Amino acid sequence: MTTQADAVGVAVQGMQYKQIPGDRGLPIIGYTLHSMADPMGFARKRYQQFGEISWANVLGINMVTMVGGDANQFVFQNRGDLFSNNQGWDFFIGKFFHRGIMLLDFEEHRHHRRIMQNAFKKPVLVEYLSEMNEPIARGIRRWQPSKKFHIFTQIKQLTLDLATEVFMGEQLGPEADSINQAFVDTVRAGTSIIRFPVPGGRWKKGLDGRKLLEDFFRSRIASKRNSDGNDLFSQLCRAETEEGHRFSDDDVINHMIFLMMAAHDTSTITLCTMFYHLAKNPEWQERLRAESRALNKEKLDFDDLEALEGMTLVMKEALRLCAPVPSIPRKTVKDVVYKGYLIPKGSMISVSPFFTHSMEEYWTEPKKFDPLRFSEGRREDKRHAYCYVPFGGGAHMCIGLHFADLQVKAILHQVLLNYRWSVDKNYQMPIDMTSLPVPADKLPVKLERID
Ligand code: HEM
Repeated sequence: MTTQADAVGVAVQGMQYKQIPGDRGLPIIGYTLHSMADPMGFARKRYQQFGEISWANVLGINMVTMVGGDANQFVFQNRGDLFSNNQGWDFFIGKFFHRGIMLLDFEEHRHHRRIMQNAFKKPVLVEYLSEMNEPIARGIRRWQPSKKFHIFTQIKQLTLDLATEVFMGEQLGPEADSINQAFVDTVRAGTSIIRFPVPGGRWKKGLDGRKLLEDFFRSRIASKRNSDGNDLFSQLCRAETEEGHRFSDDDVINHMIFLMMAAHDTSTITLCTMFYHLAKNPEWQERLRAESRALNKEKLDFDDLEALEGMTLVMKEALRLCAPVPSIPRKTVKDVVYKGYLIPKGSMISVSPFFTHSMEEYWTEPKKFDPLRFSEGRREDKRHAYCYVPFGGGAHMCIGLHFADLQVKAILHQVLLNYRWSVDKNYQMPIDMTSLPVPADKLPVKLERID
């Protein structure tokens, strides 16, 4: 057999390649239950058994899992347009987030990205941050200190309120609850085991949620087209490339629904992970509080972000320990060769930031909370260009990473100045990985106000 041990790229006719190792698992359900009950435990077992590439049957499909820096690099860089985002994500969330930018491919994706980029340039981000400070102050002022303060619930509420104000440029009244529920339903629907609309089922709730969101955005688009607001909705309506290309109404609606989802849960998860580790490591909480106090202001300006060095390290470590997008799917649109293995056209594949971030090949004591691993002089994230990928990489790399940075920091800064929080020494935060990794117990902490 002629094996191309190091080859990556498009398969060549007539060559022989290695078969990807793996097995189907149980009849009908394959490894669905194993991978849902303990996705990372399952991934680790497969990695130990088969190495960086293997396949298993999950949710009724044969899924090729690729882990580690090389695999991330190969898939994210996507040289030669080998992998489709649309066909990868479509299986999980296509029904609910169709035509969101992450679900577009190749030339069409590049076209939409060029337009959307205008809504994420630095001057616009500066505006988002200044719009955000007041609602954050309003939101956290309402927090009631207690011995069991559920961080996850409160942060989710706060990021949603921010999303409605900063993304839509308006304060929501009684609608807020139904919008919040619609988001939760739309996001959760992707991981339904029963993937058709049974009344009361997760899939049906997702479809209903999507409809509610579409109607909501459509009812406001005409006025947004005429507004000069700084909110993301208005920015998307105005965004234009140098050649004068703009989004249609449908594009704006599809992108808004996707953006709200992309921004809402990921930032919530990042903040929860930070809150958790800052509770477990009070010396870090005090270090960050001292940094925030040194700025001598309640509301962050864009230029303050860099001064918060400790917070930057803690945020990076939180994103490593709990990647909010734990695994990322793609589908091959050509016969692909990776290190001598043939991945046939039409294969579902997934790469895993969550797993890569826990690999001993790259990280010293990977389970340990150690923000200094990102400090100059250590920079463990540089051990491989693609070993640290909380925001993905390549053409689809998160467009909102700077937005996430400013939002997370603006919130944490104000909380540090006003509250102190702690958990019991033996407390371990349980993570529910059914859809995105969230605290299963909503992260109860003891919250005290600082006078
Ligand atoms: C800590 C918070 C966040 C994390 C960890 C995160 C993570 C990611 C990841 C891993 C991807 C790549 C998916 C893929 O390759 O298929 C992605 C894409 C994306 N993210 Fe984020 N994200 C975060 C916050 C945000 C925010 C705040 C926004 C918007 C304001 C946003 C908007 C997007 C968009 C639009 C895409 C698709 C980009 C494209 O396909 O061109 N994200 N994000």
